[in-house]
Amino acid sequence: MGGVDMNTSVVNILTEWDIVAARQISRSLAKLIGFNAVDQARITTVVSELARNIYLYAEQGNVTVNVINKNNRDGIQIIAEDRGPGIQNLQGVLKEDYSSYGLGAGLPGVKRLMDEFEIETEANQGTKIVVVKWLS
Ligand SMILES: Nc1ncnc2c1ncn2[C@@H]1O[C@H](COP(=O)(O)OP(=O)(O)OP(=O)(O)O)[C@@H](O)[C@H]1O
Ligand SMILES: [Mg+2]
Repeated sequence: MGGVDMNTSVVNILTEWDIVAARQISRSLAKLIGFNAVDQARITTVVSELARNIYLYAEQGNVTVNVINKNNRDGIQIIAEDRGPGIQNLQGVLKEDYSSYGLGAGLPGVKRLMDEFEIETEANQGTKIVVVKWLS
């Protein structure tokens, strides 16, 4: 994905405290570049969901929060990466009715809350999810 990195933070996810840290970092960066309170909440929800999935299903991994700029537009990019078991039945879990019902919950919620969503997953190799929210 193109864009000039202006600011990058990587959080290694090992414990539930790291989920909290990733949330806080994403909120600070989102606020810094001018996202309103609603979008800040969307972004922290997404970071929580992705970090929590790493903690629960892959045991450990990284969440990277990048401030990016493309075509004079600022945005926030979140990369969640692990070398865990991979997501079985990817098509199924991306369906809105599969796992989550709450607002912003689960991978369908992550997809819905962001402007761009890419996922790569392979059995026993791991999972990489890249999402972007652009400042409007
Ligand atoms: N990083 C990951 N590694 C391996 N499997 C994953 C990963 N993330 C998600 N999964 C699998 O995909 C399923 C769906 O994930 P999703 O986050 O949408 O829902 P959930 O975690 O089951 O429930 P919720 O997030 O609503 O509490 C999970 O139950 C899990 O089996
Ligand atoms: Mg989940």
